[in-house]
Amino acid sequence: MADLVVGLQWGDEGKGKIVDMLAKNYDVVVRYQGGHNAGHTIVVDGEKLALHLLPSGVLYPHCQNVIGNGVVIELGSLYEEMKNFGIDKLKNRLFISDRAHIILPYHSALDQLKERKKKQGAIGTTGKGIGPTYADKSSRVGVRIGELRDLSKLRDKLEAHYGEIENVISTLGGEIPSLQESMDRLKEMSEVILPFVCDSAKFLWEAQKEGKRILLEGAQGSMLDLDHGTYPYVTSSTTISAGACSGSGINIKEVQEIIGIAKAYCTRVGNGPFPSEEFGSVGEEIQKKGGEFGTTTGRARRCGWFDAVAMRYACKLNGCTQVALMKLDVLDGFSEIKVCVGYEYEGERIDYIPYDYENVKPIYESFKGWERSEGVREYDKLPKECIEYIKALEKMIECKISIISTSPDREDSIKA
Ligand code: GDP
Ligand code: IMO
Ligand code: MG
Repeated sequence: MADLVVGLQWGDEGKGKIVDMLAKNYDVVVRYQGGHNAGHTIVVDGEKLALHLLPSGVLYPHCQNVIGNGVVIELGSLYEEMKNFGIDKLKNRLFISDRAHIILPYHSALDQLKERKKKQGAIGTTGKGIGPTYADKSSRVGVRIGELRDLSKLRDKLEAHYGEIENVISTLGGEIPSLQESMDRLKEMSEVILPFVCDSAKFLWEAQKEGKRILLEGAQGSMLDLDHGTYPYVTSSTTISAGACSGSGINIKEVQEIIGIAKAYCTRVGNGPFPSEEFGSVGEEIQKKGGEFGTTTGRARRCGWFDAVAMRYACKLNGCTQVALMKLDVLDGFSEIKVCVGYEYEGERIDYIPYDYENVKPIYESFKGWERSEGVREYDKLPKECIEYIKALEKMIECKISIISTSPDREDSIKA
């Protein structure tokens, strides 16, 4: 059996905190999609750890951590993260799928150059090479981690197209390392990484057989899903719960609890529609109080009110059995709190996500604010306006809110 943590908005909902918090009760934590575009923050006793590729179970010595086949891996970033954490501490605790695809320097170069070239419609990607790597995977020309086992064969494969790739990059005005430099780097990285490489699906099936408890850790968020998000302003993987099975090898019948993570308001990094975005002082205040600056790129996150329509959609897509409501404390001190409860679209009120989502206008309901929820650890100690807000959201999203988070710290959470 396995449980699943998945982002319900546009990423950065606080998945890292919840996975870390839950991981003490699990034996294995699995990342199954995305790459180092993700930035998952864990705070324990005021100390902050930002993870990009390592699963958020790493802080518990008993927890094994898997980077599944659905993840795309930039070896240098993984190496840095492993080194910072302590490579020795990861022995027998980190398992990397030999089926995961590798992000090569030309993938990130392409990502950045193509974005820069776009006069209009830039996605605002993280520039990490995620899209081009998944595109190569779909086109069946990608490079998998398992190929590091035979570098001379890999060299032959890359050599066949390297000139072509160099030309594309130079036409776009960029530059990439030579084939030799790339191979040298792959060799260096493979020496560190190969000891951690395995057939991760098989590893997970064996873990299941032994009765181990598995927690699947989603990256990004449902509104960034390649199929169901705000296309083309999305990432290039299946971010909803359905992606967990293909990205890990755990079959669909094994997934039990699906825990959706959402902020008590809403943020988005990069471009694309965001109906409940606040452009004035409210947006600025949320940004400042919530520290809404990207963990991966440092970019300022766009901020706005909770969008109950988008959240209900996300809960449905994921099949959420429960929701964790994060960063409630960031709304402390607001006299009025708004929630988007519907959209105005082609002169009518709707309560769903239409195809041309950029043309909707939010319809709001107002709630009375509260003084302080920061650091509260018991439901009954929350201000009554807070409880009213949570109950109203629960009704609107049609899913139980089972966890409420009141600070970045692992311990500051309420089980409702
Ligand atoms: P993730 O990508 O979903 O793991 O989220 P990020 O780590 O990118 O962003 C969430 C940010 O909010 C991090 O800086 C967390 O430390 C912080 N955070 C998480 N939960 C809370 C909370 O309840 N209150 C506050 N104030 N911050 C929180
Ligand atoms: P976590 O796991 C927030 C966004 C980018 C951009 C779009 C496509 O920390 O929640 P990409 O580089 O993936 O091709 O960019 O997706 N994006 C994220 N936004 N949190 C993330 O991850 C994100 N990963 C990608 O900003 O809009
Ligand atoms: Mg993040």
